[in-house]
Amino acid sequence: MVYLDHNATTPLGPIVLEAMLPYLRQHFGNAASRHEFGTLAGKAVERARESVAQAVNAQPTQVIFTSGGTEANNFFIKGMAESFRSAQAVISPIEHPCVMKPAEGLEKRGWKVRKLRVDGEGRVDMVDLDAALYEPTGFVSVMLANNETGVIQNIAEIAKTARARQALLHTDAVQALGKIPVDFHKLNVHAMSLSAHKVYGPKGAGALILDKRIELKALLAGGGHERGMRSGTLNVPAIVGFGAACELAMKDLEASARRMQALRDQLERGLRELGAVLFGANAERLPNTSYFAVAGVAGETLVVELDKLGFAVASGAACSSMKQGASEVLSAMNVPAEIAQGAVRVSLGKSNTKEDINEFLNALKAVLARLQRLTAMTV
Ligand SMILES: Cc1ncc(COP(=O)(O)O)c(C=O)c1O
Repeated sequence: MVYLDHNATTPLGPIVLEAMLPYLRQHFGNAASRHEFGTLAGKAVERARESVAQAVNAQPTQVIFTSGGTEANNFFIKGMAESFRSAQAVISPIEHPCVMKPAEGLEKRGWKVRKLRVDGEGRVDMVDLDAALYEPTGFVSVMLANNETGVIQNIAEIAKTARARQALLHTDAVQALGKIPVDFHKLNVHAMSLSAHKVYGPKGAGALILDKRIELKALLAGGGHERGMRSGTLNVPAIVGFGAACELAMKDLEASARRMQALRDQLERGLRELGAVLFGANAERLPNTSYFAVAGVAGETLVVELDKLGFAVASGAACSSMKQGASEVLSAMNVPAEIAQGAVRVSLGKSNTKEDINEFLNALKAVLARLQRLTAMTV
């Protein structure tokens, strides 16, 4: 099998696994305990906190560990609603469901939810943002990089507008971490969500990086862990793995991005030759992500047929692949439904090679030829 779905999840890095193993075996202590077992675990958590903070140029005290990106996003949005008076929440229409749904849920608490327009490449319309912020706004949440298209938003520019109107800015940087430089300070945000399993770390660990001046009401109340903002015994092995994954990702960032982009360019030359339409290709994008459609061929069909030939790709976001219907991201980009239903995402990772791309393109060509023959027979 050739794995081409790294935006859904990545395999655990071998060095990451090695770093985690002692905390699954002998160093099993509760990081909150006062004895030697606890101290050892606690120190490992603090080292990981430093590594995660360093990866996004933040302070360790700004890192609140969570169970992943979903919890970090829910924590910020629901925490805002608990901690601040109801106002307007401004989001983009291409957010991951774990931002979209909690934000929509705020309406029941008297908040107004405003979704911004995006252009045909999936970039937030800055004029619309400016207009939206004339209403008193509690927070703006715009993702740094989109999980489907890989399109990168100009968060620093959005921050300028949001700060000028006293709105807090949150960014979901889950897909950006490890693929492009992510700098909490340069982006000038108040909060940022991260997830370990997208950067060769374990599933079930993530973080909300939070401006020190902001206190959010906890989603999970209990023993007062993570400065009282996220109770629950810390998942020490996963947090250690998250820290190790961040360190490795930072060492390798530039070289890996260059390699991914060269492979992606090779892939996209081949895709264009096969007549595919590429989404978001004129915008700044993650170097590993390619989102395309071939007219008249359903994305789901391609995913199934390519899987049979040994290639793992996605027909949209993994989390929404259970849902029927075209991608909401493409719909917000005004892609006609008949083209959007053909969307397939290839997201490259460390293990992929030029040969993988050649073989993938050959497999795709064969699948398309067969499907087109079948269609010709039935009309
Ligand atoms: C943009 C984005 N945000 C959040 C998440 C959720 O992260 P997690 O799987 O750690 O809950 C994902 C995962 O697909 C994602 O792509």
